Amino acid sequence: MRAIITGGAGFLGRKLAQAILERGALAGPDDASAPVSELVLFDNAPPDDLGGRAETVVGDIGDAAAVRDLVGGEAASIFHLAAIVSAGAEEDFDLGYRVNLDGTRHLLEACRGLAAPPRLIFASSIAVYGGDLPDTIEDDTPPLPQTSYGIQKLVGEQLIHDYTRKGYIDGRALRLPTIMVRPAPNRAASTWASSIIREPLHGRDYDCPVEPQVAMACLSPRRTVDAFIAVHDLPGDRLGLKRTLLLSGLRATAADMADAVARNAGNRRTGAIRWTPDPATMRIVGGWPGEARGARAEALGIGPDGSIDEIVRGFIADDLAEGGSAGGGTGR
Ligand SMILES: NC(=O)c1ccc[n+]([C@@H]2O[C@H](COP(=O)([O-])OP(=O)(O)OC[C@H]3O[C@@H](n4cnc5c(N)ncnc54)[C@H](O)[C@@H]3O)[C@@H](O)[C@H]2O)c1
Repeated sequence: MRAIITGGAGFLGRKLAQAILERGALAGPDDASAPVSELVLFDNAPPDDLGGRAETVVGDIGDAAAVRDLVGGEAASIFHLAAIVSAGAEEDFDLGYRVNLDGTRHLLEACRGLAAPPRLIFASSIAVYGGDLPDTIEDDTPPLPQTSYGIQKLVGEQLIHDYTRKGYIDGRALRLPTIMVRPAPNRAASTWASSIIREPLHGRDYDCPVEPQVAMACLSPRRTVDAFIAVHDLPGDRLGLKRTLLLSGLRATAADMADAVARNAGNRRTGAIRWTPDPATMRIVGGWPGEARGARAEALGIGPDGSIDEIVRGFIADDLAEGGSAGGGTGR
């Protein structure tokens, strides 16, 4: 079977591609495991072909014709990750709508032309929540986005529901908490949660722009990629009408992250963390939930990391130079 990842050059897209290649199979339309004969990575930045094992297509998700060509006339499983992430969509209103909303619609329209409805997994975000939030968001917390990015993700989820209802796709959407540790910084307000771990482990000092007690709902890329594949493989009747799942993210404060680095650094010479709170960053992250508890996803076997130490150890094993390959990319 053919699998497509949009955003295949990004942080999560690249890791998902590696995981699919390692598994070599995904559930087919009849739910039985089928070998992945072709993996296509689509992005407007050139994706890595992962040693020739993936086909790469450079294109713009905002271009309907390019997306029609990508999907073609063949049944496929599609993981839709391409996006302009939070700060980017906030700064460039038109670009955010073109990529995050029109791009999703182009993909859904291309799927409509297929003989069999493909499985389509959409990367949504806990940015769909906003306003006066509880410290822990749960399955029944009402979405009330306060950014263009959050609105675009929420509308994307609703489109997934409608195209599934009409039988054009078999869609599933995942609301992701903050995924960390990114191998490179980006411009999202959450980027400190990766930098506070990555920079000291690379031996570099880090000026942390939030106070030590600021908490974040955190999930590792390993668990996220497992969740994408597990949700893809679930028979549709396990999800029923509710096609959006909140993924759990454990609660960790900036101080917890710093402590986890110290506990897991081993013999590495680590950089220092200096606490230099930035009022603008504090204003943004101050209202964010410190934890996400997706009981429905957990009941389906899709759970959070066991501890912040597990997240730090995963980064050391997978992304530090001596431990494995790094992914690139630029988002919350
Ligand atoms: N990483 C997180 O913490 C997090 C949290 C919540 C949701 N998400 C969502 O998960 C998905 C993947 O996130 P990520 O961290 O890998 O982000 P990323 O920025 O690393 O990857 C997104 C990719 O989309 C590509 N892209 C942007 N505009 C495009 C266009 N016009 N056409 C084609 N490709 C385009 C970028 O080049 C990039 O490679 C995104 O949809 C993001 O909104 C991520």
